[in-house]
Parts: sequence; structure tokens; C-alpha cells
Amino acid sequence: MLATVAFLAFWILVGLALFFIAMRRGPRGKHVAAEGEGRGSRRAILTSFLVFYVAVGIAVPALLITGNEDNADAHVGGTQISLTKQEVKGRELFGQRCANCHVLAAAESEGPVGPNLDQLRPPAELVYDAIVRGRQRGGGTMPAGLLEGSQAEDVAAFVAATAGR
Ligand code: HEC
Repeated sequence: MLATVAFLAFWILVGLALFFIAMRRGPRGKHVAAEGEGRGSRRAILTSFLVFYVAVGIAVPALLITGNEDNADAHVGGTQISLTKQEVKGRELFGQRCANCHVLAAAESEGPVGPNLDQLRPPAELVYDAIVRGRQRGGGTMPAGLLEGSQAEDVAAFVAATAGR
């Protein structure tokens, strides 16, 4: 929001400054041969400046806004963590295979069976190992082989990047 205001203020200032420069230069400029020609070129300068100003002033914010919309679903509910493609896949798989049992805010999951991953904040290797080999160390049972290979890696990357944030 602040960035948007600053951006607009900047462009308004640039616009005003260039406008006044253009207005002052014309009549006094030494290179202006005849009165008519001077006006013509001043108008041409003003016109091309206005076109440029409007194009950049509108196109750039418009691009930023649509760019953000494309990114929106890479952002995790409420928090501003940008996910890689791998992590986005991992989030989907997490919702299918892990959310029933684990709490993880980034996946909006509240499963009460296993440890709270936001509190545990496990590194990716530990998550991968737990997925592939399972766990049964007294805190309940997590079955082995819930996911394999690259899918297990995707989930591990997602959990490591988001747990506790
Ligand atoms: C059926 C419920 C269940 C499911 C489904 C499940 N877990 Fe677990 N998970 C547990 C339990 C219970 C534990 C604790 C086991 C123990 O005390 O040894 C655990 C432990 C963990 C741990 C901690 C391992 C450690 O060594 O401290 C991680 C990380 C983990 N799970 C990640 C996941 C991920 C990622 C998925 C999805 C692929 C998943 N879990 C799916 C029940 C589940």
C-alpha cells in the first residue's frame, strides 16, 4: 500500500516537473527560429511526453497488479511466504496425506494426532525421513511410505519452508 502511494506520488511529481520544464523552455529557447515552429515542436514534445507518462504511469501499476494476482495462490493464507513450484505441489500433497494428523498453519491443517509441525519446525531431511520410514516412538503411529520419491521431497520442502511461520 505504502509502495503504491509512493509510486503514484513519484509519478505525479515527475509529471509536474517535466510539464513545467516543457512550458518554460519553449518561448525562451534560443534555438526556436520562428514563433510558429517553436509552438509546434513544443506541442510535439508535450504530446510525446504525455503519451509516455500515461503509458508508464498506467501500464507499470497494471502489470504489477496482474502479476500479484498470478502470484496470489503461491502465498500461504495470511502470511507472505512465496512458495516455489515444488513447495506448492508439496502443499497440495500435504493437504491430502498429512493434514488429518498434523497442525500446520501454512496448510490450514489442524490434525490432532501427530506433533504440531509449527512447533516442531522440522528440517526437510527429517520430514522426508518421517514420510518414508514412518514413526512409532511412543507418540502414536505414523505409517511408513505415505509418499515416495519426489512427492515426499515436495512435501518435505513445503513443510521445512513454512513450519512455524
Ligand atoms: C495417521 C496420522 C498421521 C499422518 C497421516 C501423518 N503423520 Fe506425521 N506423525 C504422526 C504421529 C503420531 C507422529 C509421532 C510419532 C512418534 O511419536 O513417533 C508423527 C510424526 C511426524 C514427524 C516428526 C518426526 C520426528 O522424528 O520427530 C513429522 C516431521 C511428520 N510426522 C510429518 C508428516 C508428514 C509430512 C505427513 C504427510 C506425508 C505426515 N506426517 C502424515 C501421525 C501422522
